[in-house]
Amino acid sequence: MKIYAINGSPRKNKNTATLLQKALDGVKEAAKDKEVETEIINLYDLNYTGCKSCFACKRLGGASYGKCAVKDDIQEVLEKVSQADGLIFGSPIYFGNITGQLQSFIERLIFPYLVYDENYSLIPPKKMPTAFIYTMNASEEFMDKSGYLSTFNKIESGLERMFTKPLVMYSNNTYQFDDYSKYKSNAFSEEAKAEHRKIQFPLDCQKAFELGANLIK
Ligand SMILES: Cc1cc2nc3c(=O)[nH]c(=O)nc-3n(C[C@H](O)[C@H](O)[C@H](O)COP(=O)(O)O)c2cc1C
Repeated sequence: MKIYAINGSPRKNKNTATLLQKALDGVKEAAKDKEVETEIINLYDLNYTGCKSCFACKRLGGASYGKCAVKDDIQEVLEKVSQADGLIFGSPIYFGNITGQLQSFIERLIFPYLVYDENYSLIPPKKMPTAFIYTMNASEEFMDKSGYLSTFNKIESGLERMFTKPLVMYSNNTYQFDDYSKYKSNAFSEEAKAEHRKIQFPLDCQKAFELGANLIK
């Protein structure tokens, strides 16, 4: 069994990556005796673009029918994650959306599996379980009233149609820098942030762990 975490953050040891690692720890714990391999794929290490609209994935009789034909760093990654037994996506929120890097990855992953027939059939090689972890500076209240959730719902319904309905968690009010006094950041109360980091982030880590465990149940 192979479970991948797709890190849509440029940072490899901050909020998103930490929660993805906790989710993979949860996967390992729940797997118990079953052989399970886990891997984090850091998208910002890879050189690639979004879909280039070449339509090779839809060309009748073409060698790349149903597959992405663009040759770059993620061609092999797309191949291996499409055979996974579970996918956990993670992204910081940038300007109310997931990062461009993760958006580009998802375009490349799912567009080849959408068939332009009268039913818009879907041909993913596997319907694996999925999950999504969002991390953001915004509080839960701001997230609820700002329209973020409708953006997230669109992403999730794309994944649901293609694979399965994702398990979802949010980590709000995240700590952005290690030392707030070194940055122009008087929009935030460092005290309130530090308190949230101390009390809430460990709970978010536990939630991520449980999300990972539930992914393979
Ligand atoms: C370019 C940029 C844009 C951001 N835009 C938002 C935003 O619109 N809403 C929000 O809540 N947080 C925003 N943030 C904050 C990050 O989403 C948040 O700190 C996140 O947890 C960082 O994840 P990381 O620690 O894994 O990098 C932004 C951060 C950056 C760098």
